[in-house]
Amino acid sequence: MFNNNTIQRFNDTETPFYYYDMGVLRNTLDACRDASSKYGFHVHYAMKANFNPKVIDMIQSFGFGADCVSGNEVKAAVEHGFDKGKVVFAGVGKSDKEINLALDADIFCFNVESVQELEIINELAKAKNKVAGIAIRINPNVDAHTHHFITTGLDENKFGINAWQLNDVAETLRKCHNLKFLGIHFHIGSQITDMEVYRNLCTRINEMQDWFEDHGFAIKILNTGGGLGVDYYNPDTNGLADFESYFKVFSKFLNVKPGQEVHFELGRAMVAQSASLISRVLYVKNGQKKNFLILDAGMTELMRPMLYQAYHSIQNLSQESRIKNQDKSEIEHSKSEIKYDVVGPICESTDCFRKDVDLPQSYRGDLIAIRTAGAYGEVMASNYNLRDQVQSVYSE
Ligand code: LLP
Repeated sequence: MFNNNTIQRFNDTETPFYYYDMGVLRNTLDACRDASSKYGFHVHYAMKANFNPKVIDMIQSFGFGADCVSGNEVKAAVEHGFDKGKVVFAGVGKSDKEINLALDADIFCFNVESVQELEIINELAKAKNKVAGIAIRINPNVDAHTHHFITTGLDENKFGINAWQLNDVAETLRKCHNLKFLGIHFHIGSQITDMEVYRNLCTRINEMQDWFEDHGFAIKILNTGGGLGVDYYNPDTNGLADFESYFKVFSKFLNVKPGQEVHFELGRAMVAQSASLISRVLYVKNGQKKNFLILDAGMTELMRPMLYQAYHSIQNLSQESRIKNQDKSEIEHSKSEIKYDVVGPICESTDCFRKDVDLPQSYRGDLIAIRTAGAYGEVMASNYNLRDQVQSVYSE
């Protein structure tokens, strides 16, 4: 991802910024498209993971659909050329304004998360003399074996409709003539790398579709949600998401009937590897117990470590280029590593990317790359402490 020319370019650029390697993005999207099209699966990109305009333009150009969680995401998807027939809209708290916007945009499907929401979409669609395509988001009570904060498919989570409420759903659907029932939707959590979890999800989906069909509802769409994880410990080639194994599990264990379509909503797996957050060391502070590398990027640019104790690999790029230009004895010397707490400038103690990171001796001005930051990075940035908006730089 970083050759001498790139590092030279970084030296001349104001930090912090997100660096997007468009080649990595293209390779990832190719891999995703190849692996899914083998089975005729439909992939919607989860816009929430990253809506950098260049990134979504490239994703759109591959023909993927869009998975949105707000009216503004629906609007952005349409404006960026996503086919409205491939736009789905999820979220536990869709406002009337957002529902109306999506109805006006004639999107493919609302993923509905409560009985009350069904009634409201029906009412708003009726007022416009329209029929809204809907899928029922079911909470499958499947443990995603991922970080507690990013699991969504357990009974205790606010998302989806629990199985014991399905009779109410069926009754409501029979009454609502401005809704077109398309199928069922699931999403059990994020950063899932254990394929066994998806196998369990397939079992649950099969049971649920039997329930609907037994109650007289034909299912056209099985939407399995997203969640495929990446390897944050191997930010380069090895870290690419395992699309092959992922889609294979569904092709093997999902009971797909003739005429049915299988849909996915992937976010992280499509974009995570393509970006790094690049920052500079402002100060090196050597304490008695701790050494701190104080960066010019913090939780305002990348929140994941502080919010979910997420791991991101950290690299001193300046040191790597110094090594390339040194003689052998110096290389040995500079290889000795020091433990640093890598922290940001924000006035919060939680503003720490990671503690006790082994890095070569580092200096003021060194360029630091925080890797695998393409998903839920730039989109979750804030201007807390009245920080500047983080900039983006793209590979040529
Ligand atoms: N579909 C639904 C309904 C979702 O809620 C999500 C993500 C996705 C699809 C896409 O999931 P993915 O393939 O990206 O795992 N900010 C957290 C992740 C939150 C995920 C929210 N929902 C993080 O930085 O880890």
